[in-house]
Amino acid sequence: MSSTASPSVIRLATGAPSDCETDLLVVPAFEEEAIGVVLPWVDEATGGEVGRATASGEIRGRLYETFVTPVTSRAAKAARIAIVGAGKPDDFDLERLRKIATASALVARGRRIPRVAFVHRGAFGPVDGTQAVTEGLVLAAFSVDQYKTGERFGPAATELTIVAHGKDAAETAAIERAIKRGIVLGESSNLARGFANEPSNLLTPRIFAERASTIAMEAGVSVEILDEKAIEQLGMGLLLGVARGSSEPPRVIVLRHDPPGAPKSPVLGLVGKGITFDTGGISIKPAEGMERMKDDMAGGAAVICGMRAISLLKAPIRVIGVVPTTENMPGGRAMKPGDVLTSASGKTVEVINTDAEGRLILGDGLWYAQQLGATHLVDVATLTGACVVGLGKTASGLFGRPDSWRDLVRDVAQRAGDRCWPMPLFDEYFDQIRSEIADMLNSGGRPGGACTAAIFLKEFTGTVPWAHMDIAGTAWADEGKPFQPKGPIGIAVRTLAELPFTYEQW
Ligand code: BES
Ligand code: MN
Ligand code: ZN
Repeated sequence: MSSTASPSVIRLATGAPSDCETDLLVVPAFEEEAIGVVLPWVDEATGGEVGRATASGEIRGRLYETFVTPVTSRAAKAARIAIVGAGKPDDFDLERLRKIATASALVARGRRIPRVAFVHRGAFGPVDGTQAVTEGLVLAAFSVDQYKTGERFGPAATELTIVAHGKDAAETAAIERAIKRGIVLGESSNLARGFANEPSNLLTPRIFAERASTIAMEAGVSVEILDEKAIEQLGMGLLLGVARGSSEPPRVIVLRHDPPGAPKSPVLGLVGKGITFDTGGISIKPAEGMERMKDDMAGGAAVICGMRAISLLKAPIRVIGVVPTTENMPGGRAMKPGDVLTSASGKTVEVINTDAEGRLILGDGLWYAQQLGATHLVDVATLTGACVVGLGKTASGLFGRPDSWRDLVRDVAQRAGDRCWPMPLFDEYFDQIRSEIADMLNSGGRPGGACTAAIFLKEFTGTVPWAHMDIAGTAWADEGKPFQPKGPIGIAVRTLAELPFTYEQW
């Protein structure tokens, strides 16, 4: 499966950028800055070409705009220089830095240029900056076209270099560590993208569980796969209800990161929606665009790949991952509108729309994470079309309580490049999911659809701090951008991976 394709070598060069031997030396340039004047060696190396292009307005420093020109003098050892637009200096942040790194590495890939170097510039410290640049460069190695037998997009870079240096040996050592961290986070994001890209005939719940086991074991995460019998014994009636419509049996993927010497508490519980295909079930979806529903396990993939990163980065606390996975199909034994299901927590649900299946499997998943000892919860799910209507494809919806926990997750996500926006959990939303015959309905209808889905999940979170990321709009790019080809994004992987490192603030 995985086209995780990661560059084979990523190294740090602490010398002058002009001394870096590479095929393409990428230099960020800000708007309203004459890069050939600020960095005279760039102009010299290109025989004045950069200065001329700045004067003519071809180089303007606009975000992601790239200008590639050969090195014609001995002023630089690279074969070519790329000037990549970094936008306005005041708007520059880690996310932009990560994105211009991806954009420039994608330009190199398109041109089949194997060795790329990125010069660290800007107001950031080189440690955080280098991590973001490394992540960005590694993200450019992902391919969506693995099932093409003919010509494919260019191969990923064979050698990446980051040109940066610390103010002393200690800071330079920290930059080296930032590269290692960036590699793990970039690769884990790409693995998650590979999962989301996989068609559902090749990624059934059983195969998903198997591949998750391989990834987890290779990273030192312990794995347990619950089969349909174990799921039945635990009484996970919501997951079993959804799975009834499919001839593929469900699974629950359970992952544990248990570092020696970790404190007893806190224990972070990560829960991801693992619907390998969502037809809607008996409340079937329209044909148009239904193929996209192969990515309805993107939240589950984020949990699995986030756990991989958590283990490789040696997070200091215990973390548990729970991914309930099944197809949502309209088979002859499928659950039907009006059916009542009993959850593992004991609460009963009247299913009025079989297409609101994500909240059902997550209800049992959230319960199970607490059974396993989670003291803090985060779930990630492609949960509602309503969230896409509300926030577009620009931010994930973020719900949770207490506010302090939600806000902490939001800050971590912002830094990780997974933008979220806070959404309300007013008690009144529950009125929309009151059932006459059971504890709740599984759908609150159209108004506030993302909020009523979240209020449903809240019923399964007891009293522990909990945050819910609705990634329905952010898991998949419908349009290609310079920094993000059309396809899976790997959303939330880096957020989940970074979160345990903030535990002292919980
Ligand atoms: N997987 C979908 C949500 C989704 C929609 C993700 C569009 C990505 C893009 C989810 O299972 C679903 O079908 N939700 C329904 C809920 C409704 C029936 C209450 C929806 O949003 O329409
Ligand atoms: Mn659905
Ligand atoms: Zn779904």
